[in-house]
Amino acid sequence: MVHQYDFDVLIIGSGASGLSLAIRLAEQAKVGVISKASLKEGSTYYAQGGIAAVLDPIDSLESHIEDTLNAGAGLCDRKVVEYVTSRGRESIEWLLDLGVPFTPDEKSDSRWHLTREGGHSHRRIIHAADATGKAVETTLETRVRTIPNISLFEQHIAIDLITGRKLGLDTDRCLGAYVLDKEQGHVVTFRAKFVVLATGGAGKVYLYTSNPDVSTGDGIAMAARAGCDIANMEFMQFHPTCLYHPDAKSFLITEAIRGEGGVLLLPNGERFMPRFDERAELAPRDIVARAIDHEMKRTGSDFVLLDISHRPADFIREHFPTVTEKCLEFGFDITNEPIPVVPAAHYICGGVVTDLKGRTTIPGLYAIGETSCTGLHGANRMASNSLLECLVFAQSAHDDIVANLPLVNLPPNLPYWDESLVTDSDEEVVVSHNWDELRRFMWDYVGIVRTTKRLQRAKNRVELLKAEIAEYYGNFRVSNDLIELRNLVQVADLIIESALHRKESRGLHYILDYPEPDDSKPPQNTILRSR
Ligand code: FAD
Ligand code: SIN
Repeated sequence: MVHQYDFDVLIIGSGASGLSLAIRLAEQAKVGVISKASLKEGSTYYAQGGIAAVLDPIDSLESHIEDTLNAGAGLCDRKVVEYVTSRGRESIEWLLDLGVPFTPDEKSDSRWHLTREGGHSHRRIIHAADATGKAVETTLETRVRTIPNISLFEQHIAIDLITGRKLGLDTDRCLGAYVLDKEQGHVVTFRAKFVVLATGGAGKVYLYTSNPDVSTGDGIAMAARAGCDIANMEFMQFHPTCLYHPDAKSFLITEAIRGEGGVLLLPNGERFMPRFDERAELAPRDIVARAIDHEMKRTGSDFVLLDISHRPADFIREHFPTVTEKCLEFGFDITNEPIPVVPAAHYICGGVVTDLKGRTTIPGLYAIGETSCTGLHGANRMASNSLLECLVFAQSAHDDIVANLPLVNLPPNLPYWDESLVTDSDEEVVVSHNWDELRRFMWDYVGIVRTTKRLQRAKNRVELLKAEIAEYYGNFRVSNDLIELRNLVQVADLIIESALHRKESRGLHYILDYPEPDDSKPPQNTILRSR
């Protein structure tokens, strides 16, 4: 039985950020990629709308920058916004070189069909019909599987980071990670010169989410436990339009549908978005999701309607084949009727604080992709800026790691995971009950519209869960579900703490006790520091 693997770089996560970095690093470094399910399972695979980049000659970088800053409600870091947006074209060219089949448009000056989404004042979303993520992830996966310098560990879930501080050594550095091999059922030590968190988002902390099952905030929770700075966790983005159907598991209906003319209607057929914002259906997501929530509560309806049926059926089928087909499975034909939609948790704008090189506050540890908080999104991410951020920061982390690789040695042998004092759990049901309870109270108390009282109520519950899980974790052999629940509770706690800390409404954080932004001082990030 193998107890320890050694790599120059250990990448935890195999979405757009993790795989792009692995491909870029493979010429210079021995890379290990671990992934807790199959390689392709993650938000990237399900991304629909596309990737924002200035490709149209009548668009401009200044415009992409201004739109991002506006959507971010005063909390974006302009320097980061400029850094990321100015690398849009080269990131797309890198994907094109790998063979990603973006949708062409012979008539467009850019050669590619560019769509529009909320907050963007131009058409600047390059896409592969409405399955952009699938096209990107499949291309990256195909490439990664051919590279000998990359070792892939599917069905391996990272439990915790190993740092010098935790081992009582004379270094603060991140030295590796403990990882559960889910198929063999034992914990392996991964030792590395550099560790990169590319673990994606945390939507599963809410009852209703567009995210896949793997999005349990593991990277953010691991980083917090290791002592990294974590920022802006109150800014959970709710996507305005997920299909409303008991069996649809919050299937996303891409914002590009509104970009191509789709309108939001009340069940009685009345269009309501113009009452909330002059950009109507193409206002930034926080505004649209809040308007829908408001109208659902006001009218007592369980959903609103999204209607694109006024566009020609061929156009709809060509541009939105995935959505068309999925809706048909649930009995809705989007080419000739409106469909019921509701908001659902979609994207965590906060996360592990990094600099422009993807470095966290712990030496040797990087965070890229949705797990990170780079300063790009501020209080509300603009649509399709996320995949762009994954690609840009994979490149930045690559450059920094390669420059520092010759200066770092592998740490000495690390202690093995100690299971001598734990037993097998005979109460798995406790884990699933706690999981349900957490996701439900997060939805009820820490959702689109918050109050201090509800946040406090959620805080009390999360404290009880934390104590229960700590006891469980200390006494029983770790399992995938227990690891994820422990992380979800930690992430919930970070979200609630941050939300309680912010005494104003801003971007995605809307709290009835303080319904306006506090303009008496410059907007501040919420930084939680555990050491
Ligand atoms: P992911 O792609 O989520 O990958 C995370 C990886 O980490 C997975 O491989 C997972 O298994 C692994 N992992 C997690 N925890 C562990 C652990 N403990 N141990 C080992 N492995 C672990 N953004 C856009 O810009 N444009 C879009 O059109 C768009 N559409 C979207 C549609 C949907 C339905 C969703 C859910 C999101 C969408 N987003 C979109 C957001 C975007 O897809 C994500 O933010 C982005 O793909 C995140 O990439 P990532 O590499 O950070 O993480
Ligand atoms: C969508 O297609 O609506 C999702 C885009 C995004 O989350 O960036």
